[in-house]
Amino acid sequence: MTQDEMKKAAGWAALEYVTKGSIVGVGTGSTVNHFIDALETRKEEIKGAVSSSVASTERLEKLGITVFDANEVAGLDIYVDGADEINAEYDMIKGGGAALTREKIVAAISDKFICIVDDTKQVDVLGQFPLPVEVIPMARSFIGRELVKLGGDPEYREGVVTDNGNIIIDVHNMAITDAKDMEKKINALPGVVTVGLFAARGADVLLVGAPEGVRKFEK
Ligand code: 5RP
Repeated sequence: MTQDEMKKAAGWAALEYVTKGSIVGVGTGSTVNHFIDALETRKEEIKGAVSSSVASTERLEKLGITVFDANEVAGLDIYVDGADEINAEYDMIKGGGAALTREKIVAAISDKFICIVDDTKQVDVLGQFPLPVEVIPMARSFIGRELVKLGGDPEYREGVVTDNGNIIIDVHNMAITDAKDMEKKINALPGVVTVGLFAARGADVLLVGAPEGVRKFEK
């Protein structure tokens, strides 16, 4: 089974959490793209979606799924999104696709975070995947220096501008043993919009596409 087939299996498995008449929180990335394709098969039953990126909005609308602004909804039952890494506590690194800030907002307004991944994303310690940080452009050098003080090896992601008009710094070589603490520390730096650590609000349900099928875990 290829990695994409495992992503697809996880994406389609999330469909069982979609309820009639609901507005669904939709993340970003290649795994979520499979979920969006699955959601199309239920589009007559749902009201629509709140999206975490321009890319997901375009895909949803192309398939005829109504996209609501996050400000139009009081809350969402579920948020379905992928991850770059997830540990045993369901803390995640996200933002490989640079959509981390909007993802964090949609996750925050949702009751249940359903994380869909292939089995290469499960790790013991977060940090092998470079940790993305969305930063206001004028703070780039300052934040770089601060990230070095926190033990990381920051790298400016060349040529990437986020949907919010900011830049991404990827932090290499940081073994993150206390994800909640590191999330707080990085988020507290002036100029950081958000860090791609999702620990204060981690996942609630984990669907892992694996060669033998989809493994389901619930907190
Ligand atoms: C985008 C994300 C994605 O969820 C993460 O990068 C995983 O992507 P993929 O499903 O393509 O492997 O956080 O900002």
